[in-house]
Amino acid sequence: RILILDFGSQVTQLIARRVRETQVYCEIHPYDVSDDFIRAELGKGLKGVILSGSHASAYDEASMRAPQAVFEVGVPVLGICYGMQTMAMQLGGKVSFSDHREFGYAEVRAHGHTPLFQGIEDFSTPEGHGMLKVWMSHGDKVTELPPGFKLMASTPSCPIAGMADVQRHYYGVQFHPEVTHTVQGQAMLSRFVHEICGCAHDWNMPDYVSEAVEAIRRQVGDDEVILGLSGGVDSSVAAALIHKAIGDKLTCVFVDHGLLRLNEAEQVLKTFADNMGVKVIHVDATDDFMGKLAGVSDPEAKRKIIGREFVEVFQREAGKLKGAKWLAQGTIYPDVIESAGAKTGKAVTIKSHHNVGGLPDTLHLKLLEPLRELFKDEVRKLGVALGLPPEMVYRHPFPGPGLGVRILGEVKKEYADLLRRADAIFIEELRNFKDESGKSWYDLTAQAFAVFLPVRSVGVMGDGRTYDYVVALRAVQTSDFMTADWAPLPYPLLAKVSGRIINEVRGINRVVYDVSSKPPATIEWE
Ligand code: XMP
Repeated sequence: RILILDFGSQVTQLIARRVRETQVYCEIHPYDVSDDFIRAELGKGLKGVILSGSHASAYDEASMRAPQAVFEVGVPVLGICYGMQTMAMQLGGKVSFSDHREFGYAEVRAHGHTPLFQGIEDFSTPEGHGMLKVWMSHGDKVTELPPGFKLMASTPSCPIAGMADVQRHYYGVQFHPEVTHTVQGQAMLSRFVHEICGCAHDWNMPDYVSEAVEAIRRQVGDDEVILGLSGGVDSSVAAALIHKAIGDKLTCVFVDHGLLRLNEAEQVLKTFADNMGVKVIHVDATDDFMGKLAGVSDPEAKRKIIGREFVEVFQREAGKLKGAKWLAQGTIYPDVIESAGAKTGKAVTIKSHHNVGGLPDTLHLKLLEPLRELFKDEVRKLGVALGLPPEMVYRHPFPGPGLGVRILGEVKKEYADLLRRADAIFIEELRNFKDESGKSWYDLTAQAFAVFLPVRSVGVMGDGRTYDYVVALRAVQTSDFMTADWAPLPYPLLAKVSGRIINEVRGINRVVYDVSSKPPATIEWE
């Protein structure tokens, strides 16, 4: 196993994720664990330690040091960014301090053939120097190598960008191998854990399931747990995992606000209640939501109403379950990455994130968040390992307020019914149409949906005049949802979807395609 000591970097979890990708088990702990903790790890099969980066300067917080035992137990150590600096300081090198920081792409010259960089190179200079394309972040720099270390990498502005003591297996890099901008980062981490630490490729998703199940059992004991099941990927995977751990002690509350996609409620109930035997309380609150939304057309007001009503309905149902002590949520790592203390409590607060506004405080329940350490694609793999249907697990994201933000202006049941049918046709055809490589357009887009426009236009159908509503199609390509491009859907696909919607959904006589990117538009229309 690999131990990652967290000095508070925003990307410490990424290191863990990369190590997991190499099929090696790892754990993250705060940097200030005791020397005894480190020695005890050795007894549990510790093979190597990675020291993370930090938001702090090695100078500001001279006390942020790795436990000295890290350098005494005889396992390989990799220091990343701050981790390399503290390693340098602790082993007798020097770091020069600066309040000027540099971030970004850099080309680093690799010196010599250390085991870490062996066979790894992005290009070579005309003089024959091996070069690496990396993501660098530095201000403070190592200015004097500790005794026993050799220079491993350098750039003009950072002469010691990497250092190695091959004999003792200590390595430090000033850049971040864990981010994808460092082209060979994954290869370096893989070399560290396999070749240098000697870990086998023996950890996988089924192992993760058993570890996570054990952890949940330890955490909740015999207590009962409730979970708000939305049908989205995260809450579904959390429900499946917790159910595996504690069975009937989990009760899911599925609040149906009447703004779900076509047949979505039935599918969720079929998967969880019928197939998996999960206790699900189905609350059909369509009338409550529609009643509260009547006459409201401002997008923010609609969101607030839906959010508040959701909390109210959930609370009412949860209140009936007297034994429940825990509230489970499908919070995943990107949800917490910018909020206080990601995982080990060492990261700075950039902004607070409320996944389900207000719930935990008012219910006096303890929070159970078993997916907190995982990234979206890991959550999906976990879902498949737990036996959830791949179509459910690989579905496009769907916003909490549902069709409420896809019906522009006032939300009416009649509009929702039309939109649901148009949306289902769009999604069905996206799944049917494939590109040259055989991949469906559903998989080639990150999110796609129909939007109901409450304006009517004139059309002609058969011999008659129509005066009906408009539906806009939206399909985007993005990896992070922060920026997105509209998807270049093939014309035959658009033609098929438009033809089917207009013919099959009476009440809609015009279909348009949204060709706006984000920014300046957003993905959703409201
Ligand atoms: P925008 O429209 O901001 O959407 O470009 C970015 C991503 O966030 C989703 N989204 C939401 N998800 N609750 C959610 O759970 C919300 O209120 C919400 N609003 C937007 C949106 O579907 C897209 O994936």
